[in-house]
Amino acid sequence: MKGKFISFEGCEGSGKSTQIRLLAEYLDKTGVPYIVTREPGGSEIAEKIRGIVLDGKNKNMSDECEALLYAAAREQHLSEIIIPALNEGKLVICDRYVHSSLAYQGYARGLGEEYIKAINSRVIKEYMPDVTLFLDISPDAAFNRKHGADKDDRMEQQGMEFHRLVYKGYKAHCGDKNFCPVNCGGEKAQTHANIIKTLKEYNIIK
Ligand code: TYD
Repeated sequence: MKGKFISFEGCEGSGKSTQIRLLAEYLDKTGVPYIVTREPGGSEIAEKIRGIVLDGKNKNMSDECEALLYAAAREQHLSEIIIPALNEGKLVICDRYVHSSLAYQGYARGLGEEYIKAINSRVIKEYMPDVTLFLDISPDAAFNRKHGADKDDRMEQQGMEFHRLVYKGYKAHCGDKNFCPVNCGGEKAQTHANIIKTLKEYNIIK
């Protein structure tokens, strides 16, 4: 694996999209070759799976089906987009990866981490991110600063209690190797600076 791989994680409204955009702008200035991609989705087939798993009308989807669809989308995305980009020496920036499955399906849905690890291990193989940036803000704090809800997909339809569990699921990983909580309660520029500092510490960028 020649390129580096980073993922962004966090609850809804944690500011991942903004921070990924700021990072991309930063990288544009430095000339580092990179791609920005996302889960679920990132490739044509995986985006179709995304459509099914996030469709608000699919109210009867079982938790296991949901977890397997996220894993299936991940497989397609990895083989079609992430691995080729890494082989070309690109920096891969992925909006969500397997820690989303651990927090949302494993912890908040209650399927358990062992189940999620089992169904994802063959998908992921050695392709774990060099660093996972966890935008550490509680769903309550994120909700208070969010101006107007914009989506109504299956995951956003879950109540606040569900999102509190997701946050707890993420917090359980703080302290794991390569899982870096980023304080993001302040200004966007400060969070961006925290991210750049972390990426330099991990030798992802110079
Ligand atoms: P998205 O619109 O990308 O949300 P966000 O902007 O918050 O990233 O929708 C992705 C949703 O899918 C989000 O609610 C988190 C959820 N998800 C899981 O539950 N498990 C997973 O493995 C992944 C990748 C995402």
